[in-house]
Amino acid sequence: MYTTAFLDLPPLLSAGGTLRLPGSKSISNRVLLLAGLSEGTTVVHDLLASDDTRVMLEALRALGCDIEQNGDTVHITGLAGKLSVLQADLFLGNAGTAMRPLTAALALLSATQGGVFTLSGIPRMHERPIGDLVDALRPLGCVVECTGNEGYPPLRLAGGQLKLSEPIKVRGDVSSQFLTALLLALPLVSQQQALAIEVVGELISKPYIEITLNLLARFGIQVQREGWQRFVIPQGSRYQSPGTIHVEADASSASYFIAAGAIAGIEEAVRIEGVGSASIQGDIRFIEAAQAMGAHVTSGPNWLEVRRGSWPLQAIDLDCNHIPDAAMTLAVMALYAQGTTRLRNIASWRVKETDRIAAMATELRKLGAAVIEGEDFIEVTPPATWSHASIHTYDDHRMAMCFSLAAFNPLAPTATPGKPVSVRIDDPRCVAKTFPDYFEALFQVAQTNPDLIPVITVDGPTASGKGTLASALATRLGYQFLDSGSLYRITGLLAVEQGIDLGDANALEQLARQLGEAIALRFDREHIWVDGRDVSEAVRREEIGQAASRLSAYPGVRQALLELQKAFRGLPGLVADGRDMGTVVFPDAALKVFLTASVAERAERRHRQLISKGVSVTLDEICSDLEARDLRDRSRAVAPLKPAQDAQLLDNSALTIEQSVDTVLGWWVAGWPHVIVRH
Ligand code: DC
Repeated sequence: MYTTAFLDLPPLLSAGGTLRLPGSKSISNRVLLLAGLSEGTTVVHDLLASDDTRVMLEALRALGCDIEQNGDTVHITGLAGKLSVLQADLFLGNAGTAMRPLTAALALLSATQGGVFTLSGIPRMHERPIGDLVDALRPLGCVVECTGNEGYPPLRLAGGQLKLSEPIKVRGDVSSQFLTALLLALPLVSQQQALAIEVVGELISKPYIEITLNLLARFGIQVQREGWQRFVIPQGSRYQSPGTIHVEADASSASYFIAAGAIAGIEEAVRIEGVGSASIQGDIRFIEAAQAMGAHVTSGPNWLEVRRGSWPLQAIDLDCNHIPDAAMTLAVMALYAQGTTRLRNIASWRVKETDRIAAMATELRKLGAAVIEGEDFIEVTPPATWSHASIHTYDDHRMAMCFSLAAFNPLAPTATPGKPVSVRIDDPRCVAKTFPDYFEALFQVAQTNPDLIPVITVDGPTASGKGTLASALATRLGYQFLDSGSLYRITGLLAVEQGIDLGDANALEQLARQLGEAIALRFDREHIWVDGRDVSEAVRREEIGQAASRLSAYPGVRQALLELQKAFRGLPGLVADGRDMGTVVFPDAALKVFLTASVAERAERRHRQLISKGVSVTLDEICSDLEARDLRDRSRAVAPLKPAQDAQLLDNSALTIEQSVDTVLGWWVAGWPHVIVRH
């Protein structure tokens, strides 16, 4: 998951390959609630791990459900319709799929069994209306107090006296989630009589109601439906655990990859696993809209394959009431279409995680699109000229995921050849609501030319702290990291182990050529594995450092490692640390940093480091050692230590690590959008 402040997406040129999507949010939270109300234990497989499911699990735990979690499988032992906790304060973040049904269930339980519950969330949750549900529950005799503004959370549910003789009425024209909440909760009180719910107004988002009915049936409750206006829960309905249930992948999450296939599946299709033609999710009908725009889609019960069909995409004019969430993806696909796309009947966008019509319009305009917004529609005309854009995401996962598709801009019919634009996604972490590893998945199926991927190089004399700085920069930007010295050290380690003479340049070159080929390498930030063996400690030994220093002076060895180093240039960017990163390996790096700390300060740092390791050495010894090494490094014939001509010098003698990192990040941010040099 990317937890950086922003994520810069390089221009993307194609998409293809296979990916598995996480479980659906709508299905996950409905299943959790139903399992929590049921008798017996339910084993839920493929549960989505996200902010919304986490708050639901925490709420169920607080209410006394027994929950055991093991990866994406969760065992839940339900309450069997009986409160075991009579007081709880539930914090539900920004999860509408937890707030609405828990409100209904706890209001009914509190009115029949006593107990006082408060339900609250983040400030945006307190701006999302719940009045229609409150208005349905109060006539039933539930005591529901809005403790902030009337019609909005936070709520306090405090007992009451149920009167089930009245018909139960709920508005269906603002959000279908209120009806879903009642359908999920009313079986709690259907022992004595059948319960009828009447929908007031035209029901929107019917597909979500189908998901609700489908899952209720899996839990033993057969709701009778009369059109979309009246729903009857039969007398004596009881939640029965199905034992085991699988959550299908999220069809709305699939929409981004369907779009990627339609825009960029040029040579190869994008194959999506976990959801397909047998899906119970309404958003699966996004496929029809994508096909109308040009996507070529084939499918099986639980997979989809998407590639470019007609191109450029076709503009469409569509009533999107049946696919409210996935329709946002169409608004971004419109950037690649010929003509103006009009998405209608999307008023519900205004009451989601943010006002999505306003947010979509504002951010599409930044890219250069012409946008007209209405109360319940949006019209998008592709940019005549594309602009670099820093996309605000409004703490809305779908904004972040949608706008990542703008990174395919070099493919757009209206793109200026050779002038791709940069797309910066603010607060990429917001995707955690439904798809924590969204960007990882995108980078798995998206491809670009390596020379479009930005590189930052960091170099400097020994003990200047370049490794620490480079690694911290990579973390802060969510970039790949190359510690090039480790490649020379690995070669040194293997040479020593295999008894290769350090004077035998040819043998060392042969060895270096095998790295990453016959010899498997794996890296993470702390570890290095060579053919499955953890060598992180071994390569740090002084003797191995000496060997690395010697063999790094052979041009043949340097040449042998060149391609391997270049291969680290991966999405979304790279920070590369080491000797000739900015001069030989990545001469087109967007930012080259050269550290120039004083000998005295570097000696102090090295001294502290060695002392902490229990090595006894004087400051003077270190000083003269560093001076000798600097001289050797600068004057050596092969790859001498010297800043690239266009390097930015940073004397970090008087800076802490954080200050150095902030300084370089400041340069990086000020330099945005980074000019991409094509060779
Ligand atoms: O940065 P380090 O101490 O891990 O590097 C090990 C040796 O490899 C050191 O002697 C410098 C050399 N080296 C190099 O010649 N070129 C690089 N790009 C990185 C390291």
